[in-house]
Amino acid sequence: MRFPLYRPRRLRRNEHFRRLVRETRLSVDDLIMPLFIVPGSGVVNPVRSMPGIAQLSIDRAVEECKEIRDLGIPGVILFGIPERKDAVGSEAYSDDGIIQRALRTLKEQVPGLLLVTDVCFCEYTDHGHCGIVKGHDVDNDATLDILVKEALSHARAGADMVAPSDMMDGRVGAIRQALDREGFPHVPIMAYAAKFASGFYGPFREAAESTPQFGDRRSYQMDPANGDEALREVEMDIAEGADIVMVKPALPYLDIIRRVKERFGYPVAAYNVSGEYAMLKAAALNGWLDGERVMLEMLTSIKRAGADIILTYFAKEAARLLR
Ligand code: PBG
Repeated sequence: MRFPLYRPRRLRRNEHFRRLVRETRLSVDDLIMPLFIVPGSGVVNPVRSMPGIAQLSIDRAVEECKEIRDLGIPGVILFGIPERKDAVGSEAYSDDGIIQRALRTLKEQVPGLLLVTDVCFCEYTDHGHCGIVKGHDVDNDATLDILVKEALSHARAGADMVAPSDMMDGRVGAIRQALDREGFPHVPIMAYAAKFASGFYGPFREAAESTPQFGDRRSYQMDPANGDEALREVEMDIAEGADIVMVKPALPYLDIIRRVKERFGYPVAAYNVSGEYAMLKAAALNGWLDGERVMLEMLTSIKRAGADIILTYFAKEAARLLR
């Protein structure tokens, strides 16, 4: 392609041309909004490091979910902060746990919104790790049993889809088998397949009150340096029955999103995590970046990389601009 025969600027001359040749279109259909549910009523607890985001009690989450649904966003992903934490995170799989109660209420009061649940233990354990701790590490196979219990109790309470985020080996298969056996063969699994041990989860741990009390998550979440291993993780989750595979975080891992999409052709979700949100919010609040513009650029980049679904704290703001 040689100048002056090819002049790329011809098709950039005005917005009509640009619209005609635009390759990637961000849509409200792509978005899932994360919500943090706390005990009590009338509670709206702003998360300091995530301006615009708050922990909500179930009654307030009902209002929020109506707004989200009315903006045309297809679904929410729910994170629970329990009344009490213990060593095995028992409120995570109690039929009366915070998420189970939220699911029953939201199903009844906000029809027409997909309710996805995060299946993990870090918010529910007193040590803040994502499973049962033996010695100084999380015991993989013991954790599988309680993950299965948690996923089943979510399904019984009305979850439309479960999303295991713990990174234990074999969890997708264990959950799939249990869902099928217990009468939930129609409930899909969105697996946090390539979840990296990331510093970008910092603000989430404040929001979900889930900071590990000792050590870190590097013995179960992935090393940020590894791309081939991410593909093996995804391959394994698909073989075990994952319906949607997730890459998390999103922006520092766009290459992984692209490789996963190209290699497997499965629906790919990307989690635009709390730290990505906080960085932009901080810059925008300081007047250093144009918040709306950069938000749409970020979300479009995640989609261009190959994501079909974007979990993002920007979902409501983006939906307003996209409508
Ligand atoms: C684990 C979980 C985490 C996030 C989603 N699920 C935190 C972690 O692994 O420490 C992070 C999401 C975000 O940062 O927005 N239950």
